Amino acid sequence: MEIMINVTEDVVKKAAKALKDGNLVAFPTETVYGLGADATSRNAVGRVYSVKGRPSDHPLIVHIASINRLDDWAVNIPDYAFTLAREFWPGPMTLILKRSDLAKDFITGGQNHVGLRIPNQPIALALLNEFEKLGGSGVAAPSANRFGAVSPTTANAVKDELENFLKLEDLILDGGQCLIGIESTIINCNEITPSVLRSGAITNEMISKICDLDNSTNSDKAKIRAPGALESHYSPNAKVVLDSVAKNGEGLIAMADIPTPSGVIRLASPNSIKEFARDFYAALRLGDTKKLEKVVVLLPKGDGLAVAIRDRATKASSGK
Ligand code: TXA
Ligand code: MG
Repeated sequence: MEIMINVTEDVVKKAAKALKDGNLVAFPTETVYGLGADATSRNAVGRVYSVKGRPSDHPLIVHIASINRLDDWAVNIPDYAFTLAREFWPGPMTLILKRSDLAKDFITGGQNHVGLRIPNQPIALALLNEFEKLGGSGVAAPSANRFGAVSPTTANAVKDELENFLKLEDLILDGGQCLIGIESTIINCNEITPSVLRSGAITNEMISKICDLDNSTNSDKAKIRAPGALESHYSPNAKVVLDSVAKNGEGLIAMADIPTPSGVIRLASPNSIKEFARDFYAALRLGDTKKLEKVVVLLPKGDGLAVAIRDRATKASSGK
């Protein structure tokens, strides 16, 4: 496995070729780093599952280069899905649609629908375009962490997570720190109105501006199985505790205006909700690097992106 720090056009070409040859390429997106594989190759996708240690019935998101590719992977696409795609792609949004024959069981976890996304990150888009030029249809990419662990937001975090599991021919493309820092909003597009299965930077407020949104609770959506949306996930080694008082030797993640009690190790001091999302996973990782046993997170309040932060922090707090 090689980390490519200077991702030139030639490096992107090499990476696209590696994908086409059935190897894995970890790449930056605007949300988190993904572990990419040719989404039509059973073998390549199989390696993603083994490298991540992920159960094989957990579906993967297919990343595509342009909206024109939607019809390759999905059928019976509702009008509102095209509206969402035109408004928010490339961007931090995944649409769950009825699958075409191209989306095999090894991508969808045996379900009849497939997750699709166009990421908004120059290296990711260049890679997807090059891959298309080589005849590729899409790149399956879960977050580039071991199953249940914290998603990586830097190339070094990918290396720390996966270097013992990747092969010599696999690559990591370094695109610096991810700008958003938490995973894409997942929207179910299999009903009359769309519903959010996993919150993210495309917020309910943004979606509601352009189409009706089904705001019923998750239990009503049991028909769709989006494992990452349900179970304990995103967990560091440290015990994560929400809205509590941090004591001597414990870590603290909180907005900048909240002071650090003496003896407490400050892991992040974001100045805005956006910065909170961007820095949250890196702060959890820092807590593990420092071998802290406990990290206290003071949750941001309000709507918008704060909803997604509270969701991930709550999952992190439910342990591995
Ligand atoms: O921002 C993101 O979405 C990142 C970057 C790399 O694009 N990817 C990501 O992938 O977070 P992953 O595999 O870590 O989480 C994807 C979630 C999983 O919880 C999975 O259950 C759900 O999406 N998902 C994917 N395809 C699905 C499908 N066909 N039906 C229901 N849920 C699906
Ligand atoms: Mg993940």
